[in-house]
Amino acid sequence: MAGTASPETPSFAPFRTVLLLLYLAGLGTVLYFLAAGASYYLTPVGERARHPLYWTFKPGGSLGLRFGMAGLAMMTVMHLYSVRKRLRPLRRLGALRKWLDLHILMGILGPLFVVLHSSFKVGGIVSISFWSMVAVALSGVFGRYLYLQIPRTRAGEELTLAEVEKADRELTRRLREEFGADDAFLQRLDHAAAPDPSAGLGRLLLALLAEDLGLRRGRLAAVTRSLPGLPPALAGQLAGVVRQKALLRRRIRLWNALHRLFHHWHVIHRPFAVVMYLFVLVHIAVASWTGYGFGGR
Ligand code: HEM
Repeated sequence: MAGTASPETPSFAPFRTVLLLLYLAGLGTVLYFLAAGASYYLTPVGERARHPLYWTFKPGGSLGLRFGMAGLAMMTVMHLYSVRKRLRPLRRLGALRKWLDLHILMGILGPLFVVLHSSFKVGGIVSISFWSMVAVALSGVFGRYLYLQIPRTRAGEELTLAEVEKADRELTRRLREEFGADDAFLQRLDHAAAPDPSAGLGRLLLALLAEDLGLRRGRLAAVTRSLPGLPPALAGQLAGVVRQKALLRRRIRLWNALHRLFHHWHVIHRPFAVVMYLFVLVHIAVASWTGYGFGGR
C-alpha cells in the first residue's frame, strides 16, 4: 500500500539527500550569476551594448549562450522520465518516483537558466517559446499536486482501485477490532473524509486544497473524539488510523473525479511543452542562420 514500507521498498533517504544537494547547487548557481550580472540585467535595454558585461551576459555572450545551452540540455534530459515510465524493461533503473523528482528538478532549473539566457529581455517569435516554458513549468506545480492525489506505491507506480479498497478494508478491520468502532463511527468518518464528488471539479479542488492546508482538520478530530472511553495511548493511535482511513476513503470516493482531473491536466501540460520545443527550434535555427547575437565581438 502507498506509504507502507515493505522488504522490496526502495530506500529513498540517500536519493533525497542527493536531490537536495542538486537543488542547492543548481539554485545557488542561478543566484550567483544573477548577482554577478545584476548591474547588466538592471541596465535599460537600449544602453546595454555599452555595458562592460555586455559580451558576457547578452543571450549570445560567453556566459549567456552557455546559460541557454544548459537550460535546453536540462529540459531535454528531463524527458528521460517519459522513457522510463513507458519502457517496462527500464524498471531496473530505479523507482519511477525518483525519475519524476529528477524531471521536476530539471523542469525548475532548466527554465531558470533559460531566464538567465534571455537576460530578462523577451520579444519576437521566441517569446512564444519562453511563455510556453513558463506556463508548462508553472502548470507542473499544479500537476505535481494532482499526481500526489492518485494512490501509488512508494516507488511511484499507480495502484488499482481494488488494491486501495483492500487497504481500506484492512483499516476498517483495525478500527473495529482494535478500537471498538461501530457502523455509526465509520459512517461519520466516511462523511468527514471527502467532499461530494458531484460538486464539480472547481469546488472539489478548493475543498481538497482546504483539507490539505489543514483548514478542515477539526472535522476529523471531532470524529476521533466521538469514540470515548479509550485509554490515552490507544486514543493517540486512533487519531493516526483515522487520518489514514480518511485519506483512503477520500481517494476511493474521488477516484474517477481525480483521474479525470489529472487527465485534463496532462492534456494542457503536454501541448505547452510541444509548442515550447517547436519555437525553440525555430529560435536556434534563426540564431545560427543569421549569426545573430552569437559569440565574441
Ligand atoms: C519546462 C519545464 C517542463 C516541461 C517541458 C515538462 C514536460 C512534461 C511532459 C511532456 C510531461 C508528460 C510526461 C509523460 O506523461 O510521459 C510531464 C509530466 C509531468 N510533469 Fe512536467 N514539465 C516541465 C516542468 C515540470 C515541473 C516544474 C513540474 C513540477 C513542479 C512538473 C511536473 C510534472 C508531473 C507531476 C508530471 C506527470 C507525471 C505523470 O503523469 O506520470 N513538470 N511534464
